[in-house]
Amino acid sequence: MAPDNRVAICPGTFDPVTNGHLDVIARASAMYDKVIVGVVNLPWRKGRTVFTAEERVGFVRNATRDLGNVDVEPFSNLLVDFARERGAMAIVKGLRAISDFEYELEMNQLNRRQDPEIESVYLMASAKYSFLSSSGIKELATFGGDIDDLVPEEVAGALKERLGR
Ligand code: PNS
Repeated sequence: MAPDNRVAICPGTFDPVTNGHLDVIARASAMYDKVIVGVVNLPWRKGRTVFTAEERVGFVRNATRDLGNVDVEPFSNLLVDFARERGAMAIVKGLRAISDFEYELEMNQLNRRQDPEIESVYLMASAKYSFLSSSGIKELATFGGDIDDLVPEEVAGALKERLGR
């Protein structure tokens, strides 16, 4: 692979994207020539999402507009197949608390078994985002909690509209 063509995938459901995800994406974009944010598009997986894949892709796209080497795409096949199709050498994910470790270890083994050549790389969450999750944000939004510093403005508005009581 040419040294100026190091591609990484940042995958996730992003329902919705949080400032914690965006922190990891921005840090990955400084490490690789190109980062493709892969947004899972499987309606039946892990229950229904609050936002459609198109909406979730749109939120990430708008929030990463200033990062010139970041693209955003939905995907609905195996993560390693998507990564291979895009010529990626790595999957980059964020790790928050210890509680993430078990799930990520399982995903790591699963993905590595499918394609040992695609390395998974983990960036430790920045301290201010270490307890931030999409599900926590949805819960706060449902009960009128303050989410303005935790997600992009567009996402905060959409959450309040869709979930606010
Ligand atoms: O944290 P998330 O949003 O549940 O992560 C999604 C993803 C795809 C990164 C994770 O589930 C994973 O690594 N899955 C590996 C198995 C796979 O490829 N599933 C198909 C997803 S379309």
